[in-house]
Amino acid sequence: MNIAILYGGKTGEHEVSQVSASSVARNINTKKHTVYLISITKEGEWFLQGDAELERIKADAKAILSDAPTGTKVTIVPGAGTAGAICSVKDGKLTTLPCDVVFPVMHGTFGEDGLVQGLLEMAELPYCGPDVMCSAISMDKEKTKLVWDYYGLPVVPYITVRRIDRDDEAAFAAILKKSEKDFEWPVFVKPCRAGSSVGANKAEDRDALIKAIDEALLWDDKVLIEAFIPAREVECSVTGFRDIAVYTPGEIIPSHEFYDYDAKYIDPDGAALRIPADLDESRIREVRDMAVKAFRALDGSGMARIDFFIDKKTGKLYLNELNTIPGFTNISMFPKLCEASGLPYPDLIEKLMQIAIERFKATRMLKTSR
Ligand SMILES: Nc1ncnc2c1ncn2[C@@H]1O[C@H](COP(=O)(O)OP(=O)(O)O)[C@@H](O)[C@H]1O
Ligand SMILES: [Mg+2]
Repeated sequence: MNIAILYGGKTGEHEVSQVSASSVARNINTKKHTVYLISITKEGEWFLQGDAELERIKADAKAILSDAPTGTKVTIVPGAGTAGAICSVKDGKLTTLPCDVVFPVMHGTFGEDGLVQGLLEMAELPYCGPDVMCSAISMDKEKTKLVWDYYGLPVVPYITVRRIDRDDEAAFAAILKKSEKDFEWPVFVKPCRAGSSVGANKAEDRDALIKAIDEALLWDDKVLIEAFIPAREVECSVTGFRDIAVYTPGEIIPSHEFYDYDAKYIDPDGAALRIPADLDESRIREVRDMAVKAFRALDGSGMARIDFFIDKKTGKLYLNELNTIPGFTNISMFPKLCEASGLPYPDLIEKLMQIAIERFKATRMLKTSR
């Protein structure tokens, strides 16, 4: 197959995407498949990298794919059909790139929120990872909770704060009052549609809560106040389209107060991964079953990493969030959990490509005219 990897993009997680995509590119069997590397700059320009870039990545396990605005400019042309959707632009001429499947290895905005998925749907290209709707809802922590709660799945209690509420004195006072009535201190505050723990803070009192809300509002127009859960953080990988495979759960043990940005990306000792998670058998079954339910509730397909909290005090299990394009470096939880269940990284990518094709074919069976 011809597989196009998209990486970078207009997102706060641009650099994380470069690292994830490097691992994906390295783990594709190039005897079987042809890999096209397409970098998207922070300004949103698309460049097809030359073959040398793939060679460079494969020769050095620590190398990171370049996001320099070099190579051949490419574009997606919806309406060109599957055979002609990705085109290179040279001297004003469009040339079609052969492409059977696209793997958007992009985290956060434009990549994980349904936008690039919508573009690929319009261009009639199969792609790895969840579809438009699952991506868009999962990006919004409030909407995700509404869906899960509707299906009877346990979510951490929360209050939504919109920018218009912050700007309205009476509405904001009512929110602070409700938070004090519903939750004990501390509470947790985070932007609704961000990732990598940016803008997330624990608040111990009213002043800290207001500060935390203002900080989170820098990242999003909508933020959540949640009950603070003194939690064990457990994560579970799933893949599939009609048949869902669920893998053994793992645990993140942050050395910081919570799993903040520094613990994720800066501090090398910021967190330990325990794979598999040290949980008894019935708990593991509960986590795996709930992961499948959570995925199905959002009409998930392709893949996801589903994150849970286990309250250390009460033992209660909560769903926290669903990541549609989880970290994909060789030390990332998502591929590691698949590996721990007997699916090595290269086979995982092969599987995700097959699922993309399977879903594409299935959705093409549906009628679009009478
Ligand atoms: N309600 C909460 N109580 C305690 N810690 C929390 C809560 N919500 C989030 N956290 C901490 O903040 C981290 C990031 O929050 P999360 O909801 O996973 O957002 P992100 O999309 O940024 O990963 C979590 O991994 C956890 O350590
Ligand atoms: Mg998280």
